[in-house]
Amino acid sequence: MAAKKHPIRAATMPGFRQDMIPALRLDYTEVNRRVEYLKALLDRSTGADFHFAHPGGEDTLHLDLRFRSAHASGGLLPNPGVAGNLPSGEAYIVPFEGESEASRSEGILPVQFGQEVVRYRIKGNKAVEVLTQGPASTAEAEHLAQEPAYGNVAELGLGVLAAFGVKPIGEILLDEKLGLHIAFGRSEHFGGQVGPKDFSSPGAVIHIDRVYVPETQPDVMVKNLDLVLESGEVLPLMRDGQYVVTFE
Ligand SMILES: [Fe+2]
Repeated sequence: MAAKKHPIRAATMPGFRQDMIPALRLDYTEVNRRVEYLKALLDRSTGADFHFAHPGGEDTLHLDLRFRSAHASGGLLPNPGVAGNLPSGEAYIVPFEGESEASRSEGILPVQFGQEVVRYRIKGNKAVEVLTQGPASTAEAEHLAQEPAYGNVAELGLGVLAAFGVKPIGEILLDEKLGLHIAFGRSEHFGGQVGPKDFSSPGAVIHIDRVYVPETQPDVMVKNLDLVLESGEVLPLMRDGQYVVTFE
């Protein structure tokens, strides 16, 4: 906000650690080019279809991407008036949250916590139920019951850094830039509708990313991720956890 008001440019590094330094030495011209490519695809998309595989079976999820524009965080901050995170490297979009008509986001989202894969039932772009049993499933069901806004699907993020050899370090600033991530919670800072007003207290406000790379969720595989384009064309974006677009 300050960068827009004053003629400054800035890099923000929340949670920055020494082991992120290799992720600053990348070819950010190329990172930015891939991010802009993915942003343009998300802008042309009306939906995203996921097919996940995990030890408990297979799940499908549709995210509604109508009525939203994507954002590019490509790591290049050459102009005054712009601030952004470093390390960077993702395109992201808030799914349609149903403010003008029903959101079509629906299906099952699996998320691995330790050894346990928690399966959330998504309807109207919200996690409305936990389908699995176990300590993490119980904790997640309680969190959803206490804070329904926590279950808002707040972001579909497409990080690009895994292809540059960057590995996750357990800090979300970097880890979400590696590949696919899906976030729960607040979205208004990204252009969505769910913000602090929807939570029970300021301390309960949350935006939490779940990153789908083998190091963070070894038992959950993104078998297919397809984008449905405005033209009706279905574009294969990922197969078996890897991008299959050529970025050309
Ligand atoms: Fe993100």
